[in-house]
Amino acid sequence: MANKYLTDLFSLKGKVAVVIGGTGELCGHMAEGLAGAGAEVILVGRSVEKAKKRLASIEKLGAKASFLSADVNAKSSLDQLLRDCLETSGKVDILVNGAGANSPTPFLEISEEEYDRLMAVNLKAVFFSCQIFGKYFVERGKPASIINVGSMSGVIPISRVFTYSVTKAGVHNLSKNLAREWAEKGIRVNTLVPGFFPAEQNKKVLTPDRVESIMAHTPMNRFGKPEELLGATLLLASEKAGSFITGEELIVDGGFASMTI
Ligand SMILES: NC(=O)c1ccc[n+]([C@@H]2O[C@H](COP(=O)([O-])OP(=O)(O)OC[C@H]3O[C@@H](n4cnc5c(N)ncnc54)[C@H](O)[C@@H]3O)[C@@H](O)[C@H]2O)c1
Repeated sequence: MANKYLTDLFSLKGKVAVVIGGTGELCGHMAEGLAGAGAEVILVGRSVEKAKKRLASIEKLGAKASFLSADVNAKSSLDQLLRDCLETSGKVDILVNGAGANSPTPFLEISEEEYDRLMAVNLKAVFFSCQIFGKYFVERGKPASIINVGSMSGVIPISRVFTYSVTKAGVHNLSKNLAREWAEKGIRVNTLVPGFFPAEQNKKVLTPDRVESIMAHTPMNRFGKPEELLGATLLLASEKAGSFITGEELIVDGGFASMTI
């Protein structure tokens, strides 16, 4: 009984989810979660090598999964990506925008090259992915869910990740703006906000002194585990469980945002 209740509420059976950044740590796990709830999943990234292990674990769940290569920094490759997704799976219902890059450069030393590189993947790619897939969703006229991956640094200022923080603040703003724009069309746009989770893109940022100050500021006194993002991901993805949730910033951070003194 409880099983059927939960399945009805959270099932993604018959849905196709495109996970940009699905070759990485957090979005790879999110893709697995979406597949576990019944969705067909398309992982998007730059390297098939990185996708192979994740594809294998998704297939073990009995779900259909594929990989599409795209450098999402270029708008033209996002146009091509939508065409490839439709050719591979016939439709898209859920879009996760989670490709990302970070850098610990002190503010006064940030070069134009670094600024452009982080802006391109963290913000421009999300902006045009929402535009391209959003146009498809609007024209199709069926419910859809866009989950943009934000950051605590997009909510409150966090030291040492200046460009990253600015890009993520832009992502949060974009999600809310599109949520307002498309609410009546049944296209929900939310930001999933992870706290601190060790991964490839932030390993340069997580120096020992940094880890110490993160722990001092995290009431649960530990890093997040990627699978701890799955509940929030399914809530935002599910047409039924998340039907009235749009423009939300769903924070998963072990209490980091609640810490004062
Ligand atoms: N790990 C954390 O603590 C944390 C916290 C908050 C937000 N986030 C966000 O979560 C998302 C996933 O990050 P992660 O920590 O799993 O890092 P990760 O480095 O494991 O994953 C990032 C993925 O993005 C891909 N990517 C980068 N540039 C790309 C491009 N131009 N085209 C296509 N793919 C590209 C990378 O190949 C990689 O697979 C990012 O948006 C990140 O900013 C992470």
